[in-house]
Amino acid sequence: MACVELKNINKTFGKEEILPCVNLRIEDGEFVVFVGPSGCGKSTLLRLIAGLEDPTGGDIEIDGEVVTEQSPKERGVGMVFQSYALYPHMSVYENIAFGLKLGKANKGRIREWVEKTAQVLQLEKLLDRKPRELSGGQRQRVAIGRAMAREPRIMLFDEPLSNLDASLRVQMRTEIAKLHDRLQSTMIYVTHDQVEAMTLADKIVVLNKGNVEQVGTPYELYEHPASLFVAGFIGSPRMNLMPGRIAAGAGSDRTQVDVDGLGTLAINRDTAELAQGDAVTVGVRPEHFHLEVSGPDQGLEVVNVEYLGNEAYVYIELPVMEELLVVRQPVPCEITPGQRVVLSTDADLVHVFDSNDRALAAHAQQPETAGLAEAASR
Ligand SMILES: Nc1ncnc2c1ncn2[C@@H]1O[C@H](COP(=O)(O)OP(=O)(O)OP(=O)(O)O)[C@@H](O)[C@H]1O
Ligand SMILES: [Mg+2]
Repeated sequence: MACVELKNINKTFGKEEILPCVNLRIEDGEFVVFVGPSGCGKSTLLRLIAGLEDPTGGDIEIDGEVVTEQSPKERGVGMVFQSYALYPHMSVYENIAFGLKLGKANKGRIREWVEKTAQVLQLEKLLDRKPRELSGGQRQRVAIGRAMAREPRIMLFDEPLSNLDASLRVQMRTEIAKLHDRLQSTMIYVTHDQVEAMTLADKIVVLNKGNVEQVGTPYELYEHPASLFVAGFIGSPRMNLMPGRIAAGAGSDRTQVDVDGLGTLAINRDTAELAQGDAVTVGVRPEHFHLEVSGPDQGLEVVNVEYLGNEAYVYIELPVMEELLVVRQPVPCEITPGQRVVLSTDADLVHVFDSNDRALAAHAQQPETAGLAEAASR
């Protein structure tokens, strides 16, 4: 167990600056997930923490000790990669023991370690098998076991489940969550999968072009994205983001925005820094639009309806935007393409971003109580 601190980490490859200046603290025992678009530097950051890559500038501390110059082994870090190559000619036992043998531990101690690891990962009955005699999920567990066997202070995972099919991923996701509960070790996990990020993380770090955009709990990032980037990145289907303007509203409070084609929406954001007519981006999540069928001369046109079994996505054309609006609907969904609909929403559910893509703060509303009410209604 250990806490990790990245201080002014800079990384360049040749002339290309991949990580300009990352500052980040990961607490002891925390499960932290890195997300961000392909190429934003997630793997690089993980490899820097592991010691597989040297930073160009800045320091890495583990438990308050500077480890920047230390080898991966000295850091006490275990890493599981996306392509987890097991040694095909070795049994499960030998694969897990491999790292320990390199460390020259004695035989009895190795057996003790491997058996304990196999027990945690439910691999006890498979120890004599070769990798080719295992399912994908079992192989994945062996790879995790190999990283775990040395009892690392920190476990790093780089998209460890991306090679597995959907049902195995769900199974392994649960296994990893259970593993974290049992070991209470610090885990840093890179994924493209929104569900993995939301369900596994104590804390999500959103990276954009090598910069930390926002750090927060899954709840904080979903409910209160601090920037347009995070609003568009967290959530699937993504938040509807529409061009708008600050409208007159009631008195000087500026409590409304105009969105061409959609109309005027009430908002509950702090617009003190803005003036009437200022351009903003208005964000509404797909599940927060209320949809009503309108007459043929009113509203907006439905261009597509996707049926997913448990819900449906209704795609609607907003003339000022290239991208279609998407509204999440319960099934059975009576809406069909070609129909016209009117959309509405609650003021509290409308996100507003200024011309610098920063979110306007919501008016204070006893957030703890609001959060509890939300959790209780799920
Ligand atoms: N050894 C290297 N030499 C030169 N450039 C590199 C090297 N490793 C990574 N890069 C570059 O650094 C950038 C970040 O790469 P990185 O692998 O960290 O991205 P990532 O966020 O993990 O992406 P993905 O989601 O696709 O795995 C990319 O532009 C990549 O091409
Ligand atoms: Mg990567």
